[in-house]
Amino acid sequence: MCSAMASAWWPWVLVLALLSGLAASGFPRSLLRLRGKRSLPEGVVDGIEIYSTKISCKVTSRFACNVVTTRAVNHADKAKEVSFDVELPKTAFITNFTLTIDGVTYPGNVKEKEAAKKQYEKAVSQGKTAGLVKASGRKLEKFTVSVNVAAGSKVTFELTYEELLKRHKGKYEMYLKVQPKQLVKHFEIEAHIFEPQGISMLDAEATFITNDLLSSALTKSFSGKKGHVSFKPSLDQQRSCPSCTDSLLNGDFTITYDVNRESPANVQVVNGYFVHFFAPQGLPVVPKNVVFVIDVSGSMSGRKIEQTRDALLKILEDIKEEDFLNFILFSGGVTTWKDHLVQATPENLEEARIFVRNIRDQGMTNINDALLRGISMLNKAREEHLTPERRTSVIIMLTDGDANTGESRPEKIQENVRNAIQGKFPLYNLGFGNNLNYNFLESMALENHGFARRIYEDSDANLQLQGFYEEVANPLLTDVEMEYPKNAILDLTQNSYQHFYDGSEIVVAGRLGDEDTNSFKADVKGRGALNDLTFTEEVNMKEMEEALKERDYIFGNYIERLWAYLTIEQLLEKRKNAHGEEKENLTAQALDLSLKYHFVTPLTSMVVTKPEDNEDQTAIADKPGEATSVTSSRAFQTSYQPPQNPYYYVDGDPHFIIQVPEKDDAICFNIDEDPSTVLRLIHDPVTGLTVNGQIIGDKEGSPDSKTRKTYFGKLGITNSQMDFRIEVTTEKITLWNGIAQSIFSWLDTVTITQDGMSLTINRKKNMVVSFGDGVTFVVVLHQVWRKHPVHQDFLGFYVVDSHRMSTQTHGLLGQFFHPFDFEVSDIRPGSDPTKSDATMVVKNHQLTVTRGSQKDYRKDVSSDMKVICWFVHNNGEGLIDGVHTDYIVPNLS
Ligand SMILES: *[C@@H]1O[C@H](CO)[C@@H](O)[C@H](O)[C@H]1NC(C)=O
Ligand SMILES: *[C@@H]1O[C@H](CO)[C@@H](O)[C@H](O)[C@H]1NC(C)=O
Repeated sequence: MCSAMASAWWPWVLVLALLSGLAASGFPRSLLRLRGKRSLPEGVVDGIEIYSTKISCKVTSRFACNVVTTRAVNHADKAKEVSFDVELPKTAFITNFTLTIDGVTYPGNVKEKEAAKKQYEKAVSQGKTAGLVKASGRKLEKFTVSVNVAAGSKVTFELTYEELLKRHKGKYEMYLKVQPKQLVKHFEIEAHIFEPQGISMLDAEATFITNDLLSSALTKSFSGKKGHVSFKPSLDQQRSCPSCTDSLLNGDFTITYDVNRESPANVQVVNGYFVHFFAPQGLPVVPKNVVFVIDVSGSMSGRKIEQTRDALLKILEDIKEEDFLNFILFSGGVTTWKDHLVQATPENLEEARIFVRNIRDQGMTNINDALLRGISMLNKAREEHLTPERRTSVIIMLTDGDANTGESRPEKIQENVRNAIQGKFPLYNLGFGNNLNYNFLESMALENHGFARRIYEDSDANLQLQGFYEEVANPLLTDVEMEYPKNAILDLTQNSYQHFYDGSEIVVAGRLGDEDTNSFKADVKGRGALNDLTFTEEVNMKEMEEALKERDYIFGNYIERLWAYLTIEQLLEKRKNAHGEEKENLTAQALDLSLKYHFVTPLTSMVVTKPEDNEDQTAIADKPGEATSVTSSRAFQTSYQPPQNPYYYVDGDPHFIIQVPEKDDAICFNIDEDPSTVLRLIHDPVTGLTVNGQIIGDKEGSPDSKTRKTYFGKLGITNSQMDFRIEVTTEKITLWNGIAQSIFSWLDTVTITQDGMSLTINRKKNMVVSFGDGVTFVVVLHQVWRKHPVHQDFLGFYVVDSHRMSTQTHGLLGQFFHPFDFEVSDIRPGSDPTKSDATMVVKNHQLTVTRGSQKDYRKDVSSDMKVICWFVHNNGEGLIDGVHTDYIVPNLS
């Protein structure tokens, strides 16, 4: 586990229990009330001094382990009750709790709930106090323990909980509720974050930090893979006013961060377990067909319906023009805005706004008919091709109550909905307020690949609704499948997802079947807005394991615990919709893992044992319901085998090489032009293909263009027939389909396919693009040492197949795609004695040429493979048609 600490305790009366399912909001009783100052140390309230509270967080690869330690001493002359309250995220599992009184530690053990319950009931019947965990507010649940502490005795409470931080809207968030209720001499929050991908942003803020004084107690920093946050207010800084004895620390302390996204995925392997994080960036949004199914029954009247109208109006502002939408309102009956889905054109949106403003509440709640109407509308749009291709569908239902008319049996509604959707698109259920059967909404959403959310009846309900929509508004991929070598991986967590939403992350974890495997390859396949994509990653396990092992601040088995956490969470979720034997099986598996890994889940409880007396034990914690779902994932790598016969290429200080297979020989030439000049390499009016390249110079090139080295730094590949364009720089690769763009980095290994076009990026090496059968280009990336004083990264361009290009093809390379002939004679020593000169007759010109060689980097940028060629001087004069300046064009596309 992430860390540990020792402590002590006393006679006793300890019983901790966890009450589940109780939705208690607001703050705990004020057990220790302020009694004014005595001649005791500062911060003593009712005889009890809480002299230290430390919240220590360690996050490694999104997996957080938090330890909350509080130490108190009883200065009173009689025994006093001391309470310890911690609010923790609902998605977290408690993994340890210990009490230490006067040097004696009572550790917590995780037991099956049934067994623990008996002890708990016995303790309660004997009048002992119990510790509880109960729901508290929207995101948190509360763990509470009270113990009697003898006069002059010290007590230490230590609670540990773990959770996998989930990415929402582009960041991970960790909430800590801070509420010491009295001044604490040593109060500290300390978080250490370690992310192998590197941290890209980190922030920490607290709702109660309003003045400069208190903000000076907060430090936050990050660099490379490590981040650190510390909040350490002095006693004086904690006062709510300079002469006050009560604490102003009361509220949420939030740490947010994100990791670098240069690479779409990251795989980590430690001790036989792996985790795969997947969150590609830069892809265009997949257009949606979206149906909002809105409850307008009588119970929605007043503020709820107002807030719903408000949220829908805001959502309409966010809807994209490519999206199609419709509204279905239900009460006792069902009304629809339009008979079918309509596109979100400005005119339709204006009409939708008028419709939304006029929504009124009335009558009963007919969930069944409303959902079935919405589903059939989406199915029809898809089956009858009423909306454009390559889009996805989403149905979002909002209700504040239970079905009470039409089909109102929850099981029957679930069955109808399941049969209608048939797994084709997700259903999201929003439960407004508390007066409803949330389990039903959740179970129905989960079995249709969506999830449920509670919308809390509060002044910000409209923002909650809008916030939910933002999360699902931008799918970047659909039908995401993560594939691993079948025999090498065991106990895989969920590896297929209907959608990948922008700003989220998919996490998949598993166990390696054969620990001696050196590498494994993982593919992530998905459908994007424009094309199908396959992200490939190959991992060298040994190297990675070594690299991660060295980090001593990582808790050693974090991947195994992350895997266990994710597996338990998914088993519990599946269990919600399982029945009979299957349910028993899922329960048994989740219970085994909870016990093995010491997690307090809905199936287990924490029991604190008094060592000398096994009978007299009991401290219990259970989890309240409504845990939210986790998304997880991973990805990567392929390699490209270049064809054996490339004929034309340009690479290095732009050296053009034309191989003439009939002659078993090659011709080469150079073009000396200023940086930023764009040259036309290929242009075929028949296939619509054009390739242009832009020249860059060395970092501090000499002003004399004769000696300055130049390279290609950018390439533009355009297919006008497909309205498709690729721009390659040394940093990234951008694809345009019409105006829609996708951006990839050279750290990606990905294959993109669409309409016969296929493009593969091989991480940091090359990019291979084919248009149908018969046109294949390779772009090679040359990376130089970053701090090199002179050189910079550049690109090479190779035509490995051009047999489908027309005879009208032209350009500096393209003009040579047609058969042509040359004769070389009179080979003689040249001005440079190591090189021969010769006379070449080509295209009716007689030229003096020099024997030279040029590197061929197709296979490997560090290769020493050389091509011998006849060098044509003066910018290819006499070899190329016209003069070289004829090939200068204004821009890349
Ligand atoms: C629980 O915490 C105590 C005190 O830090 C530690 O000694 C013990 O090993 C922990 N138990 C587990 C299962 O990690
Ligand atoms: C229960 O789970 C095990 C795997 O742990 C599986 O082999 C077995 O078939 C399952 N039984 C049922 C009834 O689902």
